[in-house]
Amino acid sequence: MNSNHDLLLQQLAALLKGEHDPLANAANLSAFLYHSLDAVNWLGFYFQQGDELVLGPFHGQPACTRLPIGQGVCGKAFANKQSLTVADVSKFSGHIYCDTASQSEVVVPFYHDKMTGVLDVDSPDLNRFDQQDTAFFEQVVRIYGDSISH
Ligand code: SME
Repeated sequence: MNSNHDLLLQQLAALLKGEHDPLANAANLSAFLYHSLDAVNWLGFYFQQGDELVLGPFHGQPACTRLPIGQGVCGKAFANKQSLTVADVSKFSGHIYCDTASQSEVVVPFYHDKMTGVLDVDSPDLNRFDQQDTAFFEQVVRIYGDSISH
């Protein structure tokens, strides 16, 4: 975690403070981070509905609305209950293309009692996300979960 990440986490917590609605906070989180991070062309949420992940609030180009759990980067991260960081999406077997500009991707799943789903972040650059970035997005998801816990 670098100092810019620390600052963004503090700002995000302040932005979400006092509001507990899952969609409102997902929307503001997406807008804030999309405009705060370099080399990100898509950032947003998919929420679980049965055996699918359904598109939620996001920033970027229009995206696929339904992703099967267990397939693609989002579906695999969710099924395996583990963050997935993909340096080159063209080399990820089963990657689902929504925006052909996306070259690398990180997905962090969450299992809150109010909402389950994933945070998905795409970059037009190869190898955009390192372990520190993944740890940062895991903290982002934790702040999101805390914000809707009331
Ligand atoms: N690439 C994702 C699909 C979602 S879009 O990137 C917004 C996947 O393979 O699950």
